[in-house]
Amino acid sequence: MKQILLAFLCAACMTSMEAKTLVAFFSATGTTKAAATRLAKQHDARLWEIEPAEPYTAADLDWRNDKSRSSLEMNNPEERPTIKQCTDVTPYDTIYVGFPIWWGICPRIINSWLDNNLPQLEGKTLIPFATSGSSSISESETYLKKTYPTLKWGKGLLMNKR
Ligand SMILES: Cc1cc2nc3c(=O)[nH]c(=O)nc-3n(C[C@H](O)[C@H](O)[C@H](O)COP(=O)(O)O)c2cc1C
Repeated sequence: MKQILLAFLCAACMTSMEAKTLVAFFSATGTTKAAATRLAKQHDARLWEIEPAEPYTAADLDWRNDKSRSSLEMNNPEERPTIKQCTDVTPYDTIYVGFPIWWGICPRIINSWLDNNLPQLEGKTLIPFATSGSSSISESETYLKKTYPTLKWGKGLLMNKR
């Protein structure tokens, strides 16, 4: 009886010790959202959309216009667009951080999210993932490691292929 009880307690203990995974993402036009949904299914992870307080319009996303909101934000490394709702990252050990590549790197809203959660993200494994027109994720990886050197970054994933 004692052995059965012990086995049961061990199993319960192992379950509570299992790594918990979060897939947090920003997506302006839905491509990264679809990739994030696939990733969350694969890893049995919680899905969290990082939403801007002020949604991006088509005009905001016009990269050909150097006065558009996205161009102005990407031109200023200090820009931190406001996020609609904060995330509780504390329950998670591994966090996938997804975004569309803008001008070779992550949109500034990803900086907003990382800055907002910085102390709580220390010690967790962060894995960047992205979608793009054609750019690779390597410039984003270099940028994130350089900008947030105290965070533990895993190898990035480019998820352009379904
Ligand atoms: C402002 C802006 C800048 C972009 N810059 C790049 C870029 O530098 N390289 C690239 O391959 N694609 C670039 N793209 C294309 C997006 O990365 C691509 O369409 C992405 O899959 C969109 O994801 P989403 O639908 O989740 O927003 C850019 C798109 C926008 C709106």
